Amino acid sequence: MASTLSTKHVLGIKHLLKEDIELIMETASYFKEVINRPIKKVPSLRDITIANLFFENSTRTRISFELAEKRLSADVINFSASASSVKKGETLLDTVQNILSMKVDMVVMRHPLQGAPYFLAKNIDANIVNAGDGTHEHPTQALLDLYSMQEKIGEVAGKNIAIIGDIRHSRVALSNIFCLTKMGANVRLCGPPTLIPKNIGSLGVEVSNDIKSTLEWADVANILRIQLERQSVKYFPSLREYSLYYGVNRKLLDSLDNEVVIMHPGPMNRGVEISSDVADSQQSIILHQVENGVAVRMAILYLLASRKEG
Ligand code: CP
Repeated sequence: MASTLSTKHVLGIKHLLKEDIELIMETASYFKEVINRPIKKVPSLRDITIANLFFENSTRTRISFELAEKRLSADVINFSASASSVKKGETLLDTVQNILSMKVDMVVMRHPLQGAPYFLAKNIDANIVNAGDGTHEHPTQALLDLYSMQEKIGEVAGKNIAIIGDIRHSRVALSNIFCLTKMGANVRLCGPPTLIPKNIGSLGVEVSNDIKSTLEWADVANILRIQLERQSVKYFPSLREYSLYYGVNRKLLDSLDNEVVIMHPGPMNRGVEISSDVADSQQSIILHQVENGVAVRMAILYLLASRKEG
């Protein structure tokens, strides 16, 4: 097992080694135990300042990072583009350099443009964690998804993991594909042909347009949100039709002989890609994913800071 991350930044899963992922999982297990203690705070990041720069909306990722940072005793700055001088025309680089001149050590950034955190990494000295860049990658989501799968079904190597829904517009899908294939899982993507990029099989995944046979095959189904806000043209006739053919509901799950673990990164469109009785069922680990997100993000920040000191 490696003792440090191979990389100064966590920009995407594509550039992480399998050993990095294993180290993050092991460290997250330690922090999961910590955050279940009566005293949840540890001094690991005392004197480290972290800026959370959110140029796009977020509920789970933003709160989870802030909680992770506070549990590690870091000093935290929260920046929201909608209430900033970005609205007056300031560039990304100027915004970040101004924040860094106040002696910030790490940057957690969500941005609507693919590659924005890579651009920053080339231009500034702080450690950067990508909290989601456009339709590209969402590495911490994939790592918390992996952690949650492992907690439920053990090692994912050789297990069948289905990713269902709007693959085309999903940064969660791409990061999950990189993460799960690196860890030896069998990955199958399922959705309407219009929502699955044509050449995606080259990433070592299977593709299916049939949800029932995919669920019969799967140990785990990670169900993705239909991202209407990113769809400039119509990819399917109506939400009602999508739900009819690709929605995961109780009737569909009851028609299977196997019991599939149900996941969703959130936010959910209840009644579209997932029905409420599935989302809230015993089969669902959706809220465990959210809980595990804090431990996984604590692990990432801790490992990046340790690397810096070392
Ligand atoms: N899963 C996820 O990234 O959710 P938020 O957009 O609420 O952060």
